[in-house]
This record gives sequence, structure tokens and C-alpha cells, in this order.
Amino acid sequence: MKDFKYYTPTEVVFGEQSEEQVAQLVKKYGGTKVLVHYGGKSAERSGLLDKICGLLKEGDIDYVKLGGVVPNPRLSKAQEGIELCRWEGVDFILAVGGGSVIDSAKCIAYGVPYLGDVWDFYLGKASATEMLPVACVLTIPAAGSEMSEASVITNEEGDVKLGYSNDLSRPKFAIMNPRRTFTLPPYQTAAGVTDMMMHTMERYFTKDDDMDLTTDIAEAILRRMKTAVYDVMKDPENYRQRAQIMWGGSVAHNGLTGCGVSDDWATHQLEHELSGMFDVTHGAGLAAIWPSWARYVMHENLNRFVRFAVNVMDVPNDFTDPETTALKGIEAMERFYHDIGMPVNIKELIGRDITDEEIKEMTRKCSRDYTATCGQFKILKADDMEAIYKMARG
Ligand code: NZQ
Ligand code: ZN
Repeated sequence: MKDFKYYTPTEVVFGEQSEEQVAQLVKKYGGTKVLVHYGGKSAERSGLLDKICGLLKEGDIDYVKLGGVVPNPRLSKAQEGIELCRWEGVDFILAVGGGSVIDSAKCIAYGVPYLGDVWDFYLGKASATEMLPVACVLTIPAAGSEMSEASVITNEEGDVKLGYSNDLSRPKFAIMNPRRTFTLPPYQTAAGVTDMMMHTMERYFTKDDDMDLTTDIAEAILRRMKTAVYDVMKDPENYRQRAQIMWGGSVAHNGLTGCGVSDDWATHQLEHELSGMFDVTHGAGLAAIWPSWARYVMHENLNRFVRFAVNVMDVPNDFTDPETTALKGIEAMERFYHDIGMPVNIKELIGRDITDEEIKEMTRKCSRDYTATCGQFKILKADDMEAIYKMARG
């Protein structure tokens, strides 16, 4: 069994009244001048942004606002935030939004005390030793950034999307009110659930499959997210099921499902090239890649795929033919993706055929100019990456 460290310092404040505590939480974690960071219009439209600003004001906490974070958040917006925070003397960053806003907030927080270019961290040229504290009011359960140590930023120069992980960036607190997710469009709801299920699956498909409790937890999350997403598709204001999904997004990516196993992340890395190049929704990009990845790698640990088929996708176990059972599990997952409006290949994702040149370019980027591999379940070289992209073209 793999040794592990489990570090999850974020204070989660969950429920319908959770937002009321925002000012006292900011004070608790030392904030005196706050950057309220947000995305497009959703937090304005719902009144959440005004509510949060009003509560900070009532709590005598000074703040400045910076909106305009787009999905697949851009480096240029973070650089604007870094300048603003330095100019205003900001000492705490509060993200009001989803993974994109939280990741942009983390990038700003790294950049403020750093004398060089914040992109250095994402390029692996530097490691952060200090940053401003970050916290969030979550509005879309998906990326898990509200408890994770990761942030993923797109540099518009070259459409390069890179992640940087550092425990320092785990948010101080995460306010989660499931009611705030009632306004999510079905596509974002489905993409979010796909992402959190994939965060679980990236750790579930492992060769170190002897930490049974982690496996049990992962299967429970996957089954629960499937049921819950079907229910909220029928009834978007189902608080109970929205709450399952909101908490699911956090536990899927706060490290719990990675205890004692080696994680893979190949589907994520292959996807980041898709959202970097085509600016697609991350969760949808994952759904477009995973079935091809799964078929390509399943023989590395066929038992794991059989277990997934039977325990998660409710496929009857044909003990005489494990390969067929495993394949039926992958097909059942494709049917699930279609049921919730997700694509199962790149053509469905981008609405046209992907060209050979585009596949070559994604392969080049994903393999860091043919120098790097990705994945653990099966270690993928550039040729493997290209083969999976070709299988996924649809
Ligand atoms: O910009 P607004 O108007 O707020 O609209 C957003 C956005 O268009 C909308 N939205 C959010 N809350 C809403 C809402 N619409 C209605 N009602 C609400 N309550 O949803 C859209 C998507 O938001 P975004 O923040 O982009 O979604 P998500 O949380 O899926 O974040 C995706 C980003 O996170 C990265 C992805 O690569 C992608 O860039 N990831 C971050 C990770 C991490 N930091 O640990 C891990 C993930 O694997 C992922 O890579
Ligand atoms: Zn993800």
C-alpha cells in the first residue's frame, strides 16, 4: 500500500445561512483589506456579490472589486489583479464564483509578493514560499478548487493552459450554499459533475488497489453523483440533491479519494490541451477524452475496470469474460454522459472534425515538446497521447 499524507486545512462552512459568516471568517484569517474577485454576470445577477460586499461593509472590512474572470481563466486578468492588489494594499483575496475565479484568485495571491513573473510558477521555474491568503464563496461545484492545492491558468500567448500545485494555496475557508447553485444551467451542472467524478476516477483507476476504504469511498461518491445529477436535471431546485453535488465536488478533490493510491491524471492532462486550444468547458472536455483513454489503458488493470463496471455502472458481472464486462462499463459511462448532455468524443465537443495538425499540436504541448510523459495507470508517451486523441476524434 502506498504511504500517504492527507492535508486538508480549509474550513468548510456549508448551508443556507453560510454566507452570513463571511465577515467574521475574513477577520478570523487576518484579512483587513480584501480583493473581492468574481467572474461574468452570474454573481451580480443573483445578488450574491452585493450581499457579500454588504456583509464586508457591515463588518467594517475594506474591499476592492475585480470581476471579469472567464472560464479557463486568463493570465492577463490575474496580472491585472496583482497590480490592483499591490496598488490598493490588499492582504486577503475572496473569490466569489467557481473554479475559474478561485484559480485566478490563487494566481493573484502568488503574484503579489513575488518579484518575478507569476507565470514562472506554472512553468515550473519557481516554487512559491509565500502568498496572500485566499478564501471563497463557491457558486458552482465542479473543479474542487475550494479545497484543493491546485490552480490552472491559461496564458493567452500560445493558448497554453498549465496548472501549479502548492499546499499554501488551499483556501482558508470555503462558504458553500447549495441554494446558490439552483441557477446553474444544465450544461454547467453536468460538466461540473463530470469533473468531480473524474477527480475521483483519476485516483480510482490505479494499480495500488489495496486501500479498500479509499476504493469504497470513491465508489460511493461516483454512485451518489450519478443519482444526484439525474435528479437535479429534472428538478434544478432540489436542495437535497444540489447539496450532495456541492459536497461531492469538494470531497472528490480534497485528497480523500487519493489516500493510499497512486493517481493518474492523464485524462486531465490530455483535456487541458483541448480547453487550452478550443476554450471548451473543462468537464465536457474530460467526457470527450475519458472513454478513449479507458479503452486504451484498461488492460493495465482489467480487474479495476470490471469493478467499476459492476459497482459503479451496475453492469452484471460476466465472470467468464472480464474484458466484455469492463467494456460494458465504459459503454455505460458513455450512455450516462449522453444522458446528461455531455459529449463522448472530440467531434461532439467542438462541433466539427479535429484536424491531424491540431492533434499533433496538442500532442506536442501535452508531451512538453516530446520530453514528458503523463499518467500512472499506464505511463503515456507522446505516441500514446496521439493515439488516444485519434481514438477520441469521433
Ligand atoms: O462567469 P459567470 O457569469 O459567473 O458564469 C460562470 C461560468 O460561465 C457560471 N456560473 C458559476 N456559478 C454559477 C454560474 N452560472 C449560474 N449560476 C451560478 N451559481 O459557470 C460557468 C463556469 O464557471 P467556472 O468557474 O469556469 O467552472 P468550474 O468550477 O468548472 O471551473 C473550471 C476551471 O477550473 C479548472 C479547469 O481547468 C477550468 O479552468 N480546474 C481547476 C482545478 C483546481 N484548481 O483544483 C482542478 C480541475 O481539474 C480543473 O482543471
Ligand atoms: Zn478537473
